Amino acid sequence: MSPDPTRPLRVGVAGTGMIGAVHVRSARLAGAEVVAVAASSPASAAAAAERLAVPRACADAAELAADDSIDVVHVCTPNSLHAPLALAAMRAGKDVICEKPLGVDLAEAEELAAVAAETGRILAVPFAYRFYASVREARARIAAGAAGDLRLIGGGYLQDWLADPEADNWRVDAVAGGRSRAFADIGSHWCDLVEFVTGLRIVRLTALTGSVVPTRGPAGATRAATTEDIALIQFETDAGVLGSAQISQVSLGMKNRLTFRVDGSAAGFAFDQENPDELRMARADGAVAVLPRDPALMSAAAAPYSLVPPGHPQGYLEAFELFTRDAYAAVTTRTVPDGLPTVTDGLRSARLVEAVLASAASGAAVDLRERD
Ligand SMILES: NC(=O)c1ccc[n+]([C@@H]2O[C@H](COP(=O)([O-])OP(=O)(O)OC[C@H]3O[C@@H](n4cnc5c(N)ncnc54)[C@H](O)[C@@H]3O)[C@@H](O)[C@H]2O)c1
Repeated sequence: MSPDPTRPLRVGVAGTGMIGAVHVRSARLAGAEVVAVAASSPASAAAAAERLAVPRACADAAELAADDSIDVVHVCTPNSLHAPLALAAMRAGKDVICEKPLGVDLAEAEELAAVAAETGRILAVPFAYRFYASVREARARIAAGAAGDLRLIGGGYLQDWLADPEADNWRVDAVAGGRSRAFADIGSHWCDLVEFVTGLRIVRLTALTGSVVPTRGPAGATRAATTEDIALIQFETDAGVLGSAQISQVSLGMKNRLTFRVDGSAAGFAFDQENPDELRMARADGAVAVLPRDPALMSAAAAPYSLVPPGHPQGYLEAFELFTRDAYAAVTTRTVPDGLPTVTDGLRSARLVEAVLASAASGAAVDLRERD
């Protein structure tokens, strides 16, 4: 069943922390009415409802997921609540935008994929970096053969917000966040983006993980950190292209330094999430050009992801807004727009997380073909 097309979509947001507030903003910009929020307690939901100017605070997230007046549930809670809430919402006939990772392990992601298929619900996953115009441009040019033969893929996703041992977060706890932290949290974005841009699949990987901050929390109240701060992966794709990535949440000075480089025989493409309005392109003679986010210079596939004239910076919030716009288009038309990350991509990501954990534990390469 699709929502009544004569009125705006009615959405509810469970989890009102950093990304929950981004979802509320994006939902409104994409034309929806945010009718309710839920948080970790009735009091924090009430405070969030006031802060975000949302009319209703639910007693808990289960109430929000079951609410018949809501068309789309946004799941923005700690990871361990993603699968239970998304399952409840889909079973109650709602479409869902569920934050990554889809669950704390592969089994949860598999169940979500099975229930989405069974119920026919849309489940979109905010791999929002796909929604930069520069990323779409790199994807379009690579698909058109501009890179020639792909030779090497590189880059990583580096942050520093967990560099300080006193820095703590629910993500550090394997029960709330899942056994993988750095890779599931941000390595998942890197792999999704690189597979999206190249159209290739990682089929074999080796991984090393490191926990360099063994205890976390304020002095006198520290707890053991059981999840990784760092993950390094080396991989081969289904086309035989090799690549590697560094993932870290303890690299001083790195904020959200998600970069990728795709080296081809005819051209190379390089993207930096901290400067997303530019796509660097190297020609076969080695000359380097910078393509600004300018619809006049971009392909038809990328131009719709430019919202303001070139020179006026566009960034993360606009990428999130564009993701949400496409997710709602899927909800209202029941057709998934090109490039919208769905439950299939969330499940794919969960498989990669599992492969990284397995390789890091055994020291051996993991072949993902056996698992797909
Ligand atoms: N797609 C992206 O780019 C992106 C970016 C950041 C975070 N995320 C994902 O979003 C999720 C939330 O991350 P965050 O950084 O916003 O975390 P956060 O700690 O800032 O917020 C988590 C929120 O969940 C709420 N919460 C806790 N228990 C709850 C419960 N039982 N019921 C309802 N709400 C509850 C908390 O009150 C808090 O508001 C994570 O899964 C994370 O991986 C995705």
